[in-house]
Amino acid sequence: MTNVTSETEAILLQLQTAGLSYREKVPGARETLMSLSRDLISNLQLPSEALMRMGWAEPAMMANCRTAVDLEIFGHLKESRETGITTKELAVKCAVAQLTHHEPLARIMKHLAAMNVVGEKSEDTYSSTPLAEALCEAKYRDGIIFLYDVAGVSFRYLPEYLKKISYTLPTDATNGPFQGAHKTELSAFSWLDHNPAYIQAFNNYMSAYRAGTPSWVDPGFYPVADRLIDGFNSDYSDAFLVDIGGGKGHDLHELKEKHPNIPGRLILQDRQVVISTVGSGIFEAMSHDFFAAQPIKNARAYHLHSILHNWGDDDCVRILRQLRSAMKPGYSRLLLNEIIVLERTEAQLVKLLRQAGFNLVKIYSYELVQESLVEAELDEEEV
Ligand SMILES: C[S@@+](CC[C@H](N)C(=O)[O-])C[C@H]1O[C@@H](n2cnc3c(N)ncnc32)[C@H](O)[C@@H]1O
Repeated sequence: MTNVTSETEAILLQLQTAGLSYREKVPGARETLMSLSRDLISNLQLPSEALMRMGWAEPAMMANCRTAVDLEIFGHLKESRETGITTKELAVKCAVAQLTHHEPLARIMKHLAAMNVVGEKSEDTYSSTPLAEALCEAKYRDGIIFLYDVAGVSFRYLPEYLKKISYTLPTDATNGPFQGAHKTELSAFSWLDHNPAYIQAFNNYMSAYRAGTPSWVDPGFYPVADRLIDGFNSDYSDAFLVDIGGGKGHDLHELKEKHPNIPGRLILQDRQVVISTVGSGIFEAMSHDFFAAQPIKNARAYHLHSILHNWGDDDCVRILRQLRSAMKPGYSRLLLNEIIVLERTEAQLVKLLRQAGFNLVKIYSYELVQESLVEAELDEEEV
C-alpha cells in the first residue's frame, strides 16, 4: 500500500466541498464532482491498472454494448423490472438462432455489470440501470452503433494515418483517417449518404450527444435576450435565427422551449438527406449546402454548432464567407458553438474569422461545459 500523497489529500478535501455543493444543488457541482473523481482515479491508479482499463476493460465494454444493442438486451432488462433476469432467460428472449447456449451471453453480462452498465442483482441475475434504460432509446442506442461501427474504426486507423502524412495537420475532407479506415475516397458525410443505416444512426445520435448538459441558451451562458431578442428588427427581415447544419433541429427546439418569446422565424438548414427526415413544426426546414450562398438574408443570427471542427481551415473560410453577403452589417450576428482549445484555440479561431471577414465580439463560456458560444460580427472594413 502506497502512502497518501499531498495531492491525493488535496483532491479528497475538494471532493468533500464539492459533495456539499452537490447536496445543495449548486449549478456545476455535479460536473466538479465528476472531474475530481477522475482526478482521484488518475492519482491512485497504477500504470498496470491504467493499461488494463484503457486496453481491455473499456474496449470490451463498448464491444459488449454493441452486441447488447444487436440482441436488444437493454430492452429485455428494462422489461424485467425489479426482478431482474438470468442469462438463460435472456438467451430465450433474444431468440437468435445462433445463440444455442447462454455461456457467451453470461460473459458479456458479467463484464457489463463490472463496468456498471447493467446491475447485477445476484449471481447471474441482471437488472437495468439508468444508463441501460437510456440505451433502449433510439438516440442513445444509435450513439453506440455510430460510435462503434463508424467513429471507432477511424480512431484505430489514426496512428497509421498520422505516420503516413508525417504528422502534418490533416486538412482534406476526402483524405483523412476516416477514408483509410473505411476504405473509401468519399468524404465522411458522402459516405454516410451511401450508408443509410448509419446516416440514420448519426442523425439520431447528434440529437442527443450533449443532452442534459448546460447549453448556450441556458441562463448564465449566452444572453439570448440581450444579444438577440432585444434589437430584433423585422423591417430588416422576419428571420430570427438560421441553424446551419442543424441536423434534425434539436438546438432550435431547445431555443424555442427555453425562450418561447422568440420574435421571428427559425430556420433549420442541412443536407437534403437529413432535411427529408425532419417534420415541420416550430421551425422551417430547408435543404441547403453550406458551401453555397446563404439564401436567408438579414437574419438576426446565423448559428453553426459543431460544424467548423469537421473541416480544415480553408473549408471553414469557404463556409463562413458564404454568410457575408447574407448578413446585415451592424445587426446580424454570427454564432459559433464549438469546443475551443480542443478543436481550435482562441487564437486559431480569431485568425480563421479574420480570414473569412469577421471580427470576434466575445467568447461566452459556462463553468465546466466544454463548448463555448463564440459571437462574431462582419468586419465592416471588408464590406
Ligand atoms: C457534427 S453534425 C452537427 C449537427 C448539429 N449542428 C449539432 O451540433 O448537433 C454536422 C452537421 O453538418 C451537416 N452538414 C455536413 N455537410 C453539410 C453541407 N455541405 N451543407 C449543409 N450541412 C452539412 C451534417 O449533415 C450534420 O447534420
